[in-house]
Formats: sequence, structure tokens, C-alpha cells
Amino acid sequence: MTQLYGQAGIPSVDTANFRAQDPEFQELVLNLINIHVVSEDYGADCFERSILRGPTPEFKQRMAKTVMEEYGHHLRFRRLLEELGIDWRETMKAKQHLSTFDTPIDTWADQMVFLALVDRAAAHQFVEFEKMPYAPFRKAAEDTLREEHGHVGLGMKGTKWILDNEPDGKAQVKSAVLKWLPVGLQSFGGDRSRTNDRYRYWGIKSRTNEEMRAEYFAEVIAIIRDKWGIDVPARLEDWWNGKTAQAAGDGGYKYAGMSLKA
Ligand SMILES: [Fe+2]
Ligand SMILES: [Fe+2]
Repeated sequence: MTQLYGQAGIPSVDTANFRAQDPEFQELVLNLINIHVVSEDYGADCFERSILRGPTPEFKQRMAKTVMEEYGHHLRFRRLLEELGIDWRETMKAKQHLSTFDTPIDTWADQMVFLALVDRAAAHQFVEFEKMPYAPFRKAAEDTLREEHGHVGLGMKGTKWILDNEPDGKAQVKSAVLKWLPVGLQSFGGDRSRTNDRYRYWGIKSRTNEEMRAEYFAEVIAIIRDKWGIDVPARLEDWWNGKTAQAAGDGGYKYAGMSLKA
């Protein structure tokens, strides 16, 4: 039996019939591809400065690999545009600014906790995209997810190293958590998002922003409090008022902490 996607019940879409799809579907998928083309490149630029902050050559090497893979994500999503005959340079010109990276990654602890928390939020999104109707995006999501898991792993390892080796490790990690957990939570978009309704209609996502955020929060708060021993508020409502992302004007397009300002 042919698999059908979303409430729309459409079959799998390929490069050859993408342009024959409903304009809304095309727009939503292209917007997500564009977000990746811009943000993976910009994010890699931001991460690059962390390589020399690594406390050991082993950490520097893994950070360098992470940067390399982030540029690879940019190239991978660029290929999706190229296959559709779209000039990626136009995308880069049109979408310039990433609000996540308005918050600078200042220290090694910042970078490690960013990977453990914010890249983890990105991984949650890719799990959704692995199930979407556009086949080339499913494949790109699958390849990217594998690497994002590695980035989260580096973040976990690096955070543990800081806690075990730095005299003020706990204070460093706590301040990074206070900085990045709100970014991770916000990356799922606003509550009651109309854009998310449309994503779910087309099967681009299967779950609401609220569901995804709650699942993510349960996972990370256990890590922060139990594994890292950092004393921070334990309830989602202490961190999230349901409106923050909307107030920031994301319109539901905020993606993995990498929202684009027009
Ligand atoms: Fe990435
Ligand atoms: Fe990553």
C-alpha cells in the first residue's frame, strides 16, 4: 500500500513532481530548506571560534569535526535547492539574520552546553523531518540527524569534563544552562502556532510545538538536574510562558533556535 502523508493524505513527493504540488506545500518545504541553507552556514561560522577554546587536542579535534559537519549541512540543503533549479545565492541574500546567534557563544562551556541543549532541540526537529512527504528532505534529515547526535554527544562529554575538571565548573555550566535552555525551548516555535497546523496538515511535522517542547523539556531537565546536579527550576512553566516565541515574532518558523529575521 502506498504510504500517505499528513491530514492532506498526499503520497511521497520527489524532485520531479515537487513543482506540481499545492503552492502552500511548496512554500512550507522551501522555507524549511532555506532556513537550513542559511543557518547551517552561519552557525558553522559561529562554532568555528570555539575550536581553539577546546581544553585538550581531543576536544579541539571533535569541535573541528563538528564545524566541518555544520558546513556539510549547509551544502546538503543547498543541493536540495539546486535540484529544484533554485539559486542558493539568492536565498543567502534574502535571508540574512539568525536570531539565535544574536546570543553569542562566548566560552567553551557555552559551546558545550549549546551542543548538549540546542543541537538536541535541532535533533528533535530532524526526527520529524525524517517522516515528511518530500523524499529528498527525508534523506537529508536522516543524514543530518546522525551527525547532530554526534554533536549532542560532544556537548554531553564536554559538559561532564567541565564539571569534573574546572574548580568553578558547576557555576560555568549553570550560567550556560540559564542562557541556552530558553533558546532551546523557543526553537520549537510558539504555542497554538498556525504555521505548525499547516505543517501537520501536509505531514511535514506530525506533532504540535507544545508536544515537542514538553517532550524536549522532560528530557533536558532530567539531564540538567540529575546528571549534572545543577539546581534550576524543574517545571516547564518556570521557563516558558507560551508567548515568548510569538513575542519574538517568529510566526512559527523559529527553527532549532535558528529563527530568521526578515
Ligand atoms: Fe547542523
Ligand atoms: Fe549540529
